[in-house]
Amino acid sequence: MRKKVIAGNWKMHKDIKETIELISGIKNGLTPNENREVIVCPPFTSLETAFALLKESNIGLGAQNMHFEDSGAFTGEISASMLKSVGCKYVILGHSERRNVFGEADEMINKKMLKALNSGLNPIFCVGETLEQRENGTTNSIIENQIRKGLDSISAQQLENTIIAYEPVWAIGTGKTATPDQAQEVHKFIRTLIADIYDEKTAGSLIIQYGGSVKPENSSELLNQPDIDGALVGGACLKPDLFLGIINSI
Ligand code: PGA
Repeated sequence: MRKKVIAGNWKMHKDIKETIELISGIKNGLTPNENREVIVCPPFTSLETAFALLKESNIGLGAQNMHFEDSGAFTGEISASMLKSVGCKYVILGHSERRNVFGEADEMINKKMLKALNSGLNPIFCVGETLEQRENGTTNSIIENQIRKGLDSISAQQLENTIIAYEPVWAIGTGKTATPDQAQEVHKFIRTLIADIYDEKTAGSLIIQYGGSVKPENSSELLNQPDIDGALVGGACLKPDLFLGIINSI
């Protein structure tokens, strides 16, 4: 059976003091449950502090982005080995804010995916359609294109260390959530596509998270869908009670 994986994407929120408060709040309220995994993805400046606080907990640490080169003249960028050196196990790649605000294309995201996997980091690879694309009826072809390009040259074995997050762009930070049926439909489409590109076994064990305005009020119904294996949470991961509410709805 697939585990449920709940990840918090802090985005550009929380300084060191606030990081300590948030992580302490999550740790204090978390009850043991072997059927789920919890991950936090603070900003780069908080990773080292977060890692120190997360030692001896079962909470995993992730970053929100990285560069595809090992090192070099890339002002403002962070490498996979740097993330590993501060204790990261995960890295979010291809988030719609990276794609749409910072202009990251599928080819660049694919290079990052390969670098992360070859460096021993587990990517949380995000895909999702805009409102216009959904209304045009092109959701599936957009998702298929993002997945085929983003996973180019990635082996079935490497995919075992990859999480896919389906995040409809129109549901991110807007308060509009995809209905459980709408989300399930796309998750099922993704799993079928992965079976087609790879094989049934790889598709059957792949963790596919839903993201986009997940909150304690809607998490239980979303997470009960057969192909939804967890959530990538933005706004609601910034307060311990809300994030714990989502985690405990499993
Ligand atoms: P949201 O963000 O939960 O605030 O919609 C989700 C995300 O961007 O990963």
